Amino acid sequence: MPSYTLTINAVKRTVSADPDTPLLWILRDTLGLTGTKYGCGKGICGTCTVHYNGNAVRSCALPITSVLEGNIVTIEGLSEKGNHSVQQAWMKLDVPQCGYCQSGQIMAAADLLSKNENPTDKDINVAMQGVLCRCGTYSRIRKAIHLAAN
Ligand code: FES
Repeated sequence: MPSYTLTINAVKRTVSADPDTPLLWILRDTLGLTGTKYGCGKGICGTCTVHYNGNAVRSCALPITSVLEGNIVTIEGLSEKGNHSVQQAWMKLDVPQCGYCQSGQIMAAADLLSKNENPTDKDINVAMQGVLCRCGTYSRIRKAIHLAAN
């Protein structure tokens, strides 16, 4: 298998993989970064959201060969000690229920706030609509994003 070097959470990591291996499997299975979750595996649910070059992307839908040139940030690298404003708001408002989708939600919310410092409810709904939560925590997610924006 060929080797590839990726920049993940500001650290260069070299892995061996088939060229079409999704980034999600590299993160979880090869590197043990299991904060990024597997949901549908088809680019639909958003649970596997990470940042690539500052944009929220679905790691299950990106082959390793498509992410060699840029910076990948996972939930483990979003902040030093869980002190990103979105993470703080999530904890303060006790957003998660089962918790499974929440790393994807947080990464999507952080992406939104990096581009829109004071989003409206509509902005939040549009930005977050692709990250599904089976527990229906959407109203707490919306409140937490507003809190993180302040
Ligand atoms: Fe990637 Fe659902 S697991 S979008």
